[in-house]
Amino acid sequence: MASAEPLLPDGQEDGVKGWCRRACTSLAKGLALVLAVVFVLVWIVQAIVWEYATIGCSPDRLKDYDYPGGGEDDAGGKKFNLVPMISLLAERKPMWYGDAFDVIPSNEASTVAGAPVGTWWRTTGPLFNTYMYEDVANSQPTVMMRRKLIRLGQCHVIERCDGSGDAYTISEGANYFANRFRKWLGMTQAMSYKIYKGDTLVAVAEETQNGFESISFRNITSRRELASSVLEGRHFHGQYDIWLVDAQKKDADLPAYVSSAATLLYAFFVMHQRGHKIKVDPNGPEGHGSHDGPSLLAATVENVTVANVPSEIVGSGLRAENRVPDQLI
Ligand SMILES: *[C@@H]1O[C@H](CO)[C@@H](O)[C@H](O)[C@H]1NC(C)=O
Ligand SMILES: *[C@@H]1O[C@H](CO)[C@@H](O)[C@H](O)[C@H]1NC(C)=O
Repeated sequence: MASAEPLLPDGQEDGVKGWCRRACTSLAKGLALVLAVVFVLVWIVQAIVWEYATIGCSPDRLKDYDYPGGGEDDAGGKKFNLVPMISLLAERKPMWYGDAFDVIPSNEASTVAGAPVGTWWRTTGPLFNTYMYEDVANSQPTVMMRRKLIRLGQCHVIERCDGSGDAYTISEGANYFANRFRKWLGMTQAMSYKIYKGDTLVAVAEETQNGFESISFRNITSRRELASSVLEGRHFHGQYDIWLVDAQKKDADLPAYVSSAATLLYAFFVMHQRGHKIKVDPNGPEGHGSHDGPSLLAATVENVTVANVPSEIVGSGLRAENRVPDQLI
């Protein structure tokens, strides 16, 4: 029967198959080699970027340092907090060597209460970004943050340059799936992160993405608010984002630099989102008449101080938490 005959004579089919196999093997080997070389190169570049980004961040440069610009509260002094208790994070004009947010002392009325005391720099690397806080007084780096790789979701570790105390970790961890799901459903409390001191879970950071861009930091046991941040405006000096970080809360044992660093991550995230989604009015700092479309958010936040934002918006963490079950049912 014709159908039982092989399409090609035995020898020829073998030849084609064999050639294919050999070609595929050498292609795979070549590809593996290229990947290995790229992998090594990427790590070398990352190591160089890391070295560059962390220049000056070492304990011997911080012996007897008085940490100018640091805030003081019941939990600790300047050395403990490193940044003011209430501060503004103001986006800077991007530079070739990195993006940055200035840290400006502020107050309950969320106004500028002095000259910038420090700057958070971001240095982009091929594998992860490095963030460094440098004070203005001596251009001295005092705390840095970097992403931890091979983790589920986002995970950043914050370490003091003087090497004292435990490192703090902001981790999405197992919240990863819940976070994506909530975001997909468009819930008010879009993201939730855990904050560890060393290995101990001490707080949660809950982000609100719809309406107001804000973060609420809460004590994991007492649920008391430890700090809060809110996107104050999108037209600082015409076109830059400005965030208010308030770490001045009663009985809060969280250093101010932790809430500042966590807010910084979110500020960068929102800043990049703006490029795609939220249009900035180039005609001026006020953004009048833009009460529709994607710039609604900018218009809403504009010219609002935390003092007159309804409390359910500023301290929305708990409220959002309570709402989640209703919406899921
Ligand atoms: C959280 O609250 C507990 C009990 O009130 C307290 O002992 C702890 O220090 C608080 N943690 C932080 C990070 O403030
Ligand atoms: C912002 O607030 C000030 C003082 O309350 C007011 O004079 C000004 O018109 C406001 N700007 C906008 C854009 O609403």
